[in-house]
Amino acid sequence: MRDIVVFSGNAHRQLAEHICQYLSVPLSQSTINRFSNDCIQVQLNANCRETDVFLIQPLVPPVQDHLMELLQMRDAARGASAARTTAVIPYYSYARSDKKDAPRISIAGRLVADLIDTAGANRVLTMTLHAPQVHGFFRIPVDHLNALHVLARYFRGKDLADTVVVSPDLGGAKEATHFARLLKLPVAAGIKRRISDEKVVIDSIVGDVDGKKVIVLDEEIATGGTLVELVDRLRERGVNHITVSCTHGLFTGQALPRLGSIAEVKELVTTDTVPLSSQSQCPPNLTTLSVAPLLGEAIRRIHHGESVSSLFTAPDWIVDTG
Ligand code: R5P
Repeated sequence: MRDIVVFSGNAHRQLAEHICQYLSVPLSQSTINRFSNDCIQVQLNANCRETDVFLIQPLVPPVQDHLMELLQMRDAARGASAARTTAVIPYYSYARSDKKDAPRISIAGRLVADLIDTAGANRVLTMTLHAPQVHGFFRIPVDHLNALHVLARYFRGKDLADTVVVSPDLGGAKEATHFARLLKLPVAAGIKRRISDEKVVIDSIVGDVDGKKVIVLDEEIATGGTLVELVDRLRERGVNHITVSCTHGLFTGQALPRLGSIAEVKELVTTDTVPLSSQSQCPPNLTTLSVAPLLGEAIRRIHHGESVSSLFTAPDWIVDTG
């Protein structure tokens, strides 16, 4: 069996270290420099020859820099004769650009998938894509994980009486239904229209939420605009106890203080697919669950040629990381 060699770019070294702890392998060093003309140069500082290389890099801000680091890490691994390279992208941010919904725009989710392919990645491991069909943008094999079992395990320890799971939009209703099933709860969904990056309108909520406790499930929270709008609609339906859960807690700009100050929002639960931008902004009711064991287990199975899909049905890989 060839060795596993793991590298990280600058996007989220802490997650990479936690994944390596799960795998009991060292995080191999890399050097990333920026020249005076703004070009980036990546050097991998460990032997890759005939090894199974995993490059960990969520596409978080500054996204373009982190994408370029990932492409160059792969290019460097190819030049160093790696036997196989898997791009581990826990958060594939360009997935939100997945359709031509305005004239003369680029479908960047597809373009970036092509770039990763062109750089020579043999496989992609990712988590909770904005839309499941983004998987199909890649011509190379993709293992698409979700964090539903990690989130559900957390909520199972809570009082879930008279609680309903709510998706902010119909696009997320299927995922929310799956999550609600894991918790044996009913589900509802908002009818959402996006006006701009920061502004959405939720016209109404389909399903029985009146006077209930609510767990909101969204794949990502960026500006928090979606949540603020959803809370307004829920408030009108007599909801005053809301727990917000998401896989990718981007929390851009003032999202965290904004959400932390909403009285009805009792708790925010997210995962560590992305780094928290500023610890000082974190409200006390923010809980971050680690997906490092899940990603680590998927890497272990990819390396050994074992089934990854069984991770969805038999979550005995979930372990406490402390
Ligand atoms: C969008 O369709 C996603 O499901 C999320 O609702 C969205 O990305 C959240 O973004 P924001 O927090 O900026 O409203």
